[in-house]
Amino acid sequence: MSSTAHLPLHQRFPRDFTWGVATSAFQIEGAATADGKGESIWDRFCRQPGAIADSSNGDIACDHYHRLEGDLDLIASLGVNAYRFSVSWPRVQALGSGAWNEAGLAFYERLVDGLLARGLQPHLTLNHWDLPQALQEQGGWAHRDTVHRFVDYALQMQRRLGDRLRTLTTHNEPWVVAVLGHEQGIFAPGLKRRATAVQVSHHLLLSHGLALQALRAEGAKAALGIVLNLAHIEPATASAADRHAAQADDARNRRWYTDPLFKGQYPEEVLAELGADAPAMQPGDLAAIATPIDFLGVNYYTRGVSSAGAPFDPAQSGLPLTDMGWEVYPRGLTELLITLHREYRLPPTYITENGAAFADAPVDGRVHDAERTEYIRSHIAAVADAMDLGVPMAGYMVWSLMDNFEWSSGYAKRFGIVHVDYATQRRTPKDSARWYREFLGRCRQSA
Ligand code: FCB
Repeated sequence: MSSTAHLPLHQRFPRDFTWGVATSAFQIEGAATADGKGESIWDRFCRQPGAIADSSNGDIACDHYHRLEGDLDLIASLGVNAYRFSVSWPRVQALGSGAWNEAGLAFYERLVDGLLARGLQPHLTLNHWDLPQALQEQGGWAHRDTVHRFVDYALQMQRRLGDRLRTLTTHNEPWVVAVLGHEQGIFAPGLKRRATAVQVSHHLLLSHGLALQALRAEGAKAALGIVLNLAHIEPATASAADRHAAQADDARNRRWYTDPLFKGQYPEEVLAELGADAPAMQPGDLAAIATPIDFLGVNYYTRGVSSAGAPFDPAQSGLPLTDMGWEVYPRGLTELLITLHREYRLPPTYITENGAAFADAPVDGRVHDAERTEYIRSHIAAVADAMDLGVPMAGYMVWSLMDNFEWSSGYAKRFGIVHVDYATQRRTPKDSARWYREFLGRCRQSA
């Protein structure tokens, strides 16, 4: 392995590298009750007073459902070769069991066919958090039966679209669903109980493994995998106490997911810490979770800093911060990928999300988001550094195609490389989009 660090960035990537932009259904589609769509747990959660910072919801969002063709042209205009999107489960099956909604399935067929017609690879995620509310009424992800409902949903989507997808992802960021949704209660469904969160994490992982087995038994053509949100975790100081805190946080937040997926076991120290809150399991669960994946998706935004004392304050670090208050720390992405590859020998790995929120507004038809451009450029360089060290990287996708509904932050946090004016639904590519297009053009020429 030789370093390519001396080369211009666009010469550090192979010709077949996947370059994309990413979104998710609830954050952009709107059309919350159109054409037979059922209610999701996020539709319900947004109605809880105080749940969303600006009291907004996903009823209209970017109105992508009604603007599909224009948005597909927009994606193509960026010069990418891939688009990552998610399916709203309640749009294709209102209640999460029983009848399929033909209008919803037809929407995703138009989306996938529209991508292929424009020469773009479709990367589909089944669960980007918008579980049918009807399943939540029966216990949601805490209820083992939801695992089997999810496998049925996965099979249905493969039957309709499987021959045209590049990748099929089961879950986006199971940690977020479990911890933010069921322990901290700041995301849907808004529950606050650790034991529930732990059981949810187990059922998410189990449904991933069982779905992979079922999809392969029916002749899956797409590459199958899962997307995890992972931070590179560092101790706040070199003290033994802080280093111990960092190891414990890494075990709880990262290895709780990667160990069962790659080794078929939960970290012993976390099981011991959980005690009676450890998940209920059945024989065979761990083997199912460890069903080999064809690819791993990593969503990376910042590092984590652990301290045995007072919580670390990013504002004190001296590093640039995004509008989310997250440190800009590209080196952590290289470190994270190297750690993962050393521990597990990674399959082909995509950065399925990476990007930054900054407050920006159009001036004379332009958005000068130099900080976002630098964020993206420096993280692409971090991916190249990991490749130099032997990590099998397959692609990189910016979060996000366009500004959208940022969960409990509402519409105030703008992650897009395309600006959205929510009053008019006008889309304006920011300078970061122009930079990305030019960069990708150089990549194509030199490959
Ligand atoms: C990730 C989510 C994505 C987006 C970004 C900022 O956790 O997967 O939907 O909200 O954060």
